Amino acid sequence: MFIRKSTKDYLKADVKDISKLLTLALDQTKEQLFSNPGYELNDIEHKTLNNLIKQRTNGKPFAYLKGSQGFYDLDFVVSPATLIPRPETELLIDIALDTFDTNKKISALDLGTGSGIIAITLSEKFPSWAITATDQSNDALKIAQINATNKIDFYCGDWFDALPKDKFDLIVSNPPYIEDQDPHLHSLKYEPIEALISGKDGLDDIRKIISQSPEFLNQGGYLLLEHGYNQKKQILGLLEESFVNIKAFKDLNKVDRAILAQLR
Ligand SMILES: C[S@@+](CC[C@H](N)C(=O)[O-])C[C@H]1O[C@@H](n2cnc3c(N)ncnc32)[C@H](O)[C@@H]1O
Repeated sequence: MFIRKSTKDYLKADVKDISKLLTLALDQTKEQLFSNPGYELNDIEHKTLNNLIKQRTNGKPFAYLKGSQGFYDLDFVVSPATLIPRPETELLIDIALDTFDTNKKISALDLGTGSGIIAITLSEKFPSWAITATDQSNDALKIAQINATNKIDFYCGDWFDALPKDKFDLIVSNPPYIEDQDPHLHSLKYEPIEALISGKDGLDDIRKIISQSPEFLNQGGYLLLEHGYNQKKQILGLLEESFVNIKAFKDLNKVDRAILAQLR
C-alpha cells in the first residue's frame, strides 16, 4: 500500500530529472504534467516512478531509462549496448553540410556507428548518398538498424575488417577516444566501455583509422573524425603523411573537437 502523492509533491522532491521521470511514469508530456499539478498518482504509477527514481539516483542516465535520445533533428532508440548520443557529435553533421553538395551522389562510411546517429542523420540530409556503417558490437548494430530511416548497409567487425573491399568518398567516425585511466570514467559506468576508451593516450583507435583510411578512400576522398579536447596536435601529426587540406574545428563550447582532411 502506497501513500498517495500528487505530481506537485513529487516536483518539490530533490531528485535529479524528477519532472522528466514523472513524464515517463505517467506517460505524459511536460505540458500535460504541469497543467495538472494536483493529479494524484495511482499505485501502479507510484511504483513505476519510485523504481525510476531509484535507478536515476543510482546514476543510470535518463536516456537509458527513456530508451531514446535526441540528436540533430531526430530521436534515436538507445540501449546499454550503445553510447548515448552527445550534442558535440552534431558538429560532424554541420561540417558535412558545409563541405558537401547535397545533390552530389557520393559514398560514405560511418565507422563505429553505435545507435547509428551519424550514418542515419547523413542519410536524411544527403538522400542521394550511398551509406555504409559498421560497428564491432552486434547489439549496437541491431539498435542502429531499428533507428535507420533510409537504406544503409550495416556490417559488424573490427574497423575496416568489417567491410567487403570497397572505397568511399567520405569516411566519418566518432571513435572511442578516452584514455583508459581517465578519472572521469566512473561517471560513465553505465555506457559500454568499449565505446569510450582507446588505450593509454586515448588514440589507439584514431591511429588505426588514420593509418588504414587511405586504402579505403577514393582519390581526393575525405576523412572526418571527432576527437578528445587535447588530441588535436597529435592527430594533425598523424594525418600529415597521407592527407592535405586539413581543417580543425571547435565545438559549441569552443573546445577542439573535430578534424576534416582530404586524401593527398
Ligand atoms: C564513441 S562511440 C560512437 C557511437 C556513435 N557513432 C555516436 O557518435 O554516438 C564508438 C563506437 O565505436 C564502436 N567501436 C569500438 N571499437 C571498435 C572497433 N574496433 N571496430 C568497430 N567499432 C568499434 C563502439 O562499439 C561504439 O559504438
